[in-house]
Amino acid sequence: MTETRPQPLPQTPLLQVQDLGIRFGGLHAVRDVTASLQPGRITAIIGPNGAGKSTFFNLISGFYQPTSGRITFRGEDITRLRTHEVVGRGIARTFQTTTIYQELSVLDNAMIGHRVRTRAGLLDALLRTGRERRDEEESRAGALRALDRVGLAGQATLPAGALNQEGKKRVGIAMALASDPHLLLDEPAAGMNPEETVNLMGLIRDLVSGGLSVALVEHKMSLVMGLADDILVLHHGQKIAQGTPAHISRDPAVVEAYLGSHAHGGQMGQEQAGRTQGTGVNHA
Ligand SMILES: Nc1ncnc2c1ncn2[C@@H]1O[C@H](COP(=O)(O)OP(=O)(O)O)[C@@H](O)[C@H]1O
Ligand SMILES: [Mg+2]
Repeated sequence: MTETRPQPLPQTPLLQVQDLGIRFGGLHAVRDVTASLQPGRITAIIGPNGAGKSTFFNLISGFYQPTSGRITFRGEDITRLRTHEVVGRGIARTFQTTTIYQELSVLDNAMIGHRVRTRAGLLDALLRTGRERRDEEESRAGALRALDRVGLAGQATLPAGALNQEGKKRVGIAMALASDPHLLLDEPAAGMNPEETVNLMGLIRDLVSGGLSVALVEHKMSLVMGLADDILVLHHGQKIAQGTPAHISRDPAVVEAYLGSHAHGGQMGQEQAGRTQGTGVNHA
């Protein structure tokens, strides 16, 4: 996909959600969320386990259809678009390391990312239809550019399964970048050690310096404080705060939510017990 998209005007939010909500039966997983994401920034979405973070991503990426509200991306209403249409507008989500094809080369994985994101689906990507063959060179070029961006150009011919966890995560990011998105949604996978996590945060920073905007669900509060430009805090499906890390760490509602979830045995932003350390809201 080589269409060039005009850059957003300064001051125009990249993404806006207005009164966004979704119910699953009686449960309001996301409720009345109104928020903006600015271009050229890293926006972190945090909140206790069950706060609605993943659901929020699923709504933005078109995986779920909201039961209320509106989503606007670069001035266009994308509320009712399907996942591949959302990708076509320039929003991509990183592939989980579990969806990487271990036996295929790093390059083939990145090419699959290109096709999944720009075509009808995975089956289409795996079955080489005539159209796919015609698009092969374009896919290869896009995939190679994406691998270069994530620092994997030198490993393109290796089987993806030969990479360590950080390398696989980079492949997952490359698969998403192959569609040349404006906005990357990233929900870090479990199983990264602290050094790998720091490396990946450096990569995210570099990508943003290169013009990408990133929204990420981050489990480690301390990393969010050091990395994010803007933090959106969800609690029980609702937005309770949005602002800079300094602002958020002083917000009484955030501190309350954090302490409340802590009292119930879960630290804010820590969804998998034992995976993280030092996630306290004051550990900035
Ligand atoms: N497909 C679904 N069907 C029913 N309930 C769901 C579904 N997806 C999420 N939920 C519920 O919505 C709430 C928010 O979940 P989620 O967005 O995964 O939270 P988080 O990512 O912040 O931990 C939880 O109570 C969860 O059980
Ligand atoms: Mg989640």
